[in-house]
Amino acid sequence: MGSSFNGFSLLVLVSLVISSTASGDFYQNFDLTWGDNRAKIFNGGKLLSLSLDKISGSGFQSKKEYLFGRIDMQLKLVAGNSAGTVTAYYLSSQGPTHDEIDFEFLGNVTGEPYILHTNVYAQGKGDREQQFYLWFDPTRNFHTYSIIWKPQHIIYLVDNIPIRVFKNAESIGVPFPKNQPMRIYSSLWNADDWATRGGLVKTDWTKAPFTAYYRNFNFVPATSGSSSSYSRSAWESEELDATSRRRLRWVQKYFMIYNYCTDLKRFPQGLPPECRRSRF
Ligand SMILES: *[C@@H]1O[C@H](CO)[C@@H](O)[C@H](O)[C@H]1NC(C)=O
Repeated sequence: MGSSFNGFSLLVLVSLVISSTASGDFYQNFDLTWGDNRAKIFNGGKLLSLSLDKISGSGFQSKKEYLFGRIDMQLKLVAGNSAGTVTAYYLSSQGPTHDEIDFEFLGNVTGEPYILHTNVYAQGKGDREQQFYLWFDPTRNFHTYSIIWKPQHIIYLVDNIPIRVFKNAESIGVPFPKNQPMRIYSSLWNADDWATRGGLVKTDWTKAPFTAYYRNFNFVPATSGSSSSYSRSAWESEELDATSRRRLRWVQKYFMIYNYCTDLKRFPQGLPPECRRSRF
């Protein structure tokens, strides 16, 4: 009896350790949700790929829902002529008043830059786009795309460099995603009606299938506080440190190509309140 109890506690311990680190294995953390065999998990669960052909795109979603934490994923985007394709990687809750935190990668013809499109929805309302070029070719290697989601802010990071901060501005009446747990979703689909140069460049189906790769998913809950494996300042402190603030300014100055907060034409009645309060 004693030994079966020990066996049971060992099992519990092992599964606790696995679920609290929640990293790596795609079989364990994600379901392939559409696109039949266009979505694949391989290398023993370490690698996932999505592909798109003329008939269909594909997608996956997390088995679990998350409420606050740091989520890292490495992506290698569709190489070559990826014009017309969109790789979306985002967090979302369900329902008409859903919350959402988006990364979308808009492809381009060979040699021309991808656009990284970001948006934050709170209680069903988005319209908070910021777009960026990247300072590297996202199709050559894996790069890390992260979201730090806390009650006080959302930070988007690329290779640990903050590119966008969306602060909680509930005190001035701006809804903030903080009551609805979200799942992680990703999909690769055809959006040649708008994605590349506003829909001017169409998908070249002779180059299909288009494939994007994923690895090294990692989730750290916000409650893990002083977790020693995550001594990254952007995560630990409530505000960005001086280095992160400098990097954020560098990205926003040289790589940001659209910011809803400066789009006066779009908001003739006045910019959204969170834009008036600070630069970000
Ligand atoms: C594609 O390349 C063109 C020309 O360099 C550029 O204007 C555009 O922003 C790029 N990205 C997308 C997704 O259209």
